[in-house]
Amino acid sequence: MDPERFVSETVEALRKKLDAPAILGASGGVDSTVVAALAHSAIGDRLTPIFVDTGYMRKGEGDAVRRLYEELGIELVFVDASERFYAALEGVIEPERKRRAIGHTFIDVFAEAAMRIDATYLLQGTIAPDWIESGGGIRDTIKSHHNVGGLPEVLHMTLVEPIRDLYKDEVREVARHLGIPVAKKQPYPGPGLAIRILGEATRDRTRIVREACYIVETEIAAAAGSGALEEPWQYFAVLLPIRSVGVHGDLRAYGYTIVVRAVYSLDGMTANYAQIPHQVLDRISRRIANEMGEDVTRVVYDITNKPPGTIEWE
Ligand code: XMP
Repeated sequence: MDPERFVSETVEALRKKLDAPAILGASGGVDSTVVAALAHSAIGDRLTPIFVDTGYMRKGEGDAVRRLYEELGIELVFVDASERFYAALEGVIEPERKRRAIGHTFIDVFAEAAMRIDATYLLQGTIAPDWIESGGGIRDTIKSHHNVGGLPEVLHMTLVEPIRDLYKDEVREVARHLGIPVAKKQPYPGPGLAIRILGEATRDRTRIVREACYIVETEIAAAAGSGALEEPWQYFAVLLPIRSVGVHGDLRAYGYTIVVRAVYSLDGMTANYAQIPHQVLDRISRRIANEMGEDVTRVVYDITNKPPGTIEWE
């Protein structure tokens, strides 16, 4: 694939096809951002990318997406739906119910925003592995993945997938060609932090796991950057609703448990837990203890491979 040719041909094809306003679910990931840039070149302001803040985003994620679109000169519709998501997940504990509640709420919020724009086309950043993997009907549903799959039916819009024949490395090449920053990001699940909180994913627990995830991510990335370990494929924190007794200052504390998870994998289908140097785990544990106060009284490291454990805990 020649990125220059791919871009000019795709922009031309989109210009011909998109004869009415179009919307796009913008996550800030490289796939949807490449589609946004291609469609913006083709139809300019008749493209409206929509970013939904579910309340389960990582630290600084919403602002980063805003900045990215500002840099690209593409106007972004930003919908803060966090209250709605927290309400939809109130009392929901079972992981599959949680995933479904998030999926449905996402579709509702996105559809409402889309209807206000009166668009005819829905652009999506589907790439080749997305549809190849979901083709097989014999696999058991281990986890129902959250994506915008239900949207085209709800919206009665025509789905357009301009990069559906590309693989990830090709998307990255196109992104570089378009001047889109392609920091090699670790995968991040659609349902976000909600599936990294066992039990009810309340606003307060989300605040805790968000901070813990941030500490784990920054410490492991820094250690990998300094050559202390090979950067794992994915690394994050999980909050367990199990509380244990600890001391904070001179006082008794009764806080949650944070699990540190870091794995090596090729495609997420199988994974080995990362044998992180103890000094790195020690820094993570101390930072969590120092910065997170009495919310967290215990930090543990997950040494489970996949199988049997999945990468995320829910
Ligand atoms: P598991 O936990 O099943 O995860 O071992 C394998 C990879 O998939 C990611 N993951 C998701 N990605 N929507 C996504 O886009 C989802 O609902 C979802 N659930 C898990 C997970 O982070 C890991 O990289």
